[in-house]
Amino acid sequence: MKLFVTGGAGFIGSNFIRHVLALKKGYSVVNYDKLTYAGNLANLESIAEDPRYSFVRGDICDAAAVEQALRGCNAIVHFAAESHVDRSIYEPAASIETNVKGTFVLLQIARKLGVERFVHISTDEVYGDMLPGAFADENSPLQPSSPYSSSKAGSDLLVRSYVRTYGFPALITRSSNNYGPFQFPEKFMPLMITNALDDKPLPIYGDGKQQRDWLHVEDNCRGVVAVLERGRIGEVYNIGGLDVEENLTMLHRLLRVLGKPDSLLTYVKDRPGHDRRYALDCAKMEKELGWKPAISLDEGLRQTIGWYQSNSDWMAGVRKGDYLSYYDKYYVNRDTSLHAIADGGKAPR
Ligand code: NAD
Ligand code: TYD
Repeated sequence: MKLFVTGGAGFIGSNFIRHVLALKKGYSVVNYDKLTYAGNLANLESIAEDPRYSFVRGDICDAAAVEQALRGCNAIVHFAAESHVDRSIYEPAASIETNVKGTFVLLQIARKLGVERFVHISTDEVYGDMLPGAFADENSPLQPSSPYSSSKAGSDLLVRSYVRTYGFPALITRSSNNYGPFQFPEKFMPLMITNALDDKPLPIYGDGKQQRDWLHVEDNCRGVVAVLERGRIGEVYNIGGLDVEENLTMLHRLLRVLGKPDSLLTYVKDRPGHDRRYALDCAKMEKELGWKPAISLDEGLRQTIGWYQSNSDWMAGVRKGDYLSYYDKYYVNRDTSLHAIADGGKAPR
């Protein structure tokens, strides 16, 4: 099996490539990645010399480059995306371009070249807010709230239309919030862990009572492989950690493991349009594919914190340049920057 992995230099994609090369002897991987701010080849250092691995730098919106790199591959696992909700709110254009147009280009070329299986990696965020006690299953309505989640929902619908219209062999996974090694420190878990390690404030958006379902990235990789190998064409599969926690509770847990004081907790201006609660029903994954999460939140948090503690060089490599300007603009000067965004949305007077 020759796999074409898009976005393989990012957080989940790089964990997935290492997972596949370690456990699937008959697989080789072409990693196709644009190397945006979130792409980092250091994530793949341990397998860079593996003869079953190759890297092509390219944009999924570039049809000619995709066609050249994709030739000879049997299947696609499509991770490439602008993946951060906050950035999609601050500068939405890139999310729409990559997540919608990029997915369209991939579908077109994959169909032209006769790719046998296409796994589209989506998110629980396409279901929008879930009410207390409710869990989204694969038939729940798509009610995305942010430019990120609406662009992902748009790409899901394109994939669905290719299955129906062209008989294209695609499947979709929708996973919850992943955490684990090699996650870029703009997302909740690595941002909070690395700030706490440096005794910097932990910025809580709004009241901190939003809830997320937390999934260890290794459990997600195992789920994606199960869908790739055994999922039914045209189906959607929810992949969640089955552990829904309030952000504040998560922060207290992190601080306990790190041995850091609660005084680091700092309330900041909320994210515009912030979804209150995500929660997934993952019965289909268990019933059809025999998958369920294996890594408990306690174990996963200890392992992830340990990874960040012992990989300070990796952290130093990503927490510089653009990341520092981003942090300054949206954390240190948060009120002014969010105010400017709200104001920029007004019709000209
Ligand atoms: P990430 O931001 O860490 O990595 C994204 C990767 O895609 C980067 O390597 C980047 O360089 C690459 N990329 C971006 N635009 C590209 C383009 N136009 N062409 C080629 N490559 C491009 O993202 P992640 O957290 O690893 O997420 C991977 C996928 O999983 C995304 O599709 C995301 O929507 C989905 N997802 C993520 C989570 C999560 O918790 N991180 C949860 C559910 C779903
Ligand atoms: P995030 O990692 O951005 O994922 P999601 O796509 O689910 O929003 O954020 C997870 C939760 O943590 C979400 O409710 C927003 C919140 N959050 C903070 O409170 N502070 C932060 O600095 C970040 C990045 C997120």
